[in-house]
Amino acid sequence: MKIAPSILSADFGRLLEDVKRVEEAGADLLHVDVMDGQFVPNITIGPLVVEALKGRTSLPLDVHLMICDPDRFVHEFIRAGAQHLSFHVEACVHLHRTVHAIKEEGVRAGVGINPGTSLSSVECILPDLDFVVLMSVNPGFGGQTFIPAVLPKIRALRQMIDEQGLSTVISVDGGINADTACLVRDAGADQIVAGSAIYGRKDIRQAILDLRG
Ligand code: DX5
Ligand code: ZN
Repeated sequence: MKIAPSILSADFGRLLEDVKRVEEAGADLLHVDVMDGQFVPNITIGPLVVEALKGRTSLPLDVHLMICDPDRFVHEFIRAGAQHLSFHVEACVHLHRTVHAIKEEGVRAGVGINPGTSLSSVECILPDLDFVVLMSVNPGFGGQTFIPAVLPKIRALRQMIDEQGLSTVISVDGGINADTACLVRDAGADQIVAGSAIYGRKDIRQAILDLRG
């Protein structure tokens, strides 16, 4: 499984240093949580911060938009350096248009699904997606508890992808620690996002090893 540390749990006062720490510890991607205070009850970072990281890390920037009406900002985040860009099905009316707007710019497109949203919301568009972000917490904050109801969703999505012979990546985001990483891997996830389970540990290299199981 690929590991995407979320900088939401990093020390923003020394962000680049914390990015280098996960890079050196063997992370695969850098997960950047963008929140607008409307779609989720928290405000985090905008394109300026993504731009500040661009070219300063070898990790691909995996930008997770938790914002209303994501079309307004897709191009700006791509200009800022997003190489993987996801937005939420609950926040977007014309899913197909937004996915293709991202892909036309040569960026990998993903759709996020909240714990209370059915997989059927992305079924029709699955072949167009590079990845699906299955949320295992209600988005908004780091350090929340994993919601086990995501496990049957991972299994069902794995089956859909395999049956159709697709290469869509299943990413699972929220409440991931060594125990839950094991559960989501067994259910068929390809990638996990983890914030507190990585940045909350002194030994980040060991934290990433523990998540790999
Ligand atoms: C939640 C974010 C997550 C968050 C995960 O809204 O999308 O990426 O940073 O944090 P942990 O791993 O602490 O649950
Ligand atoms: Zn996220």
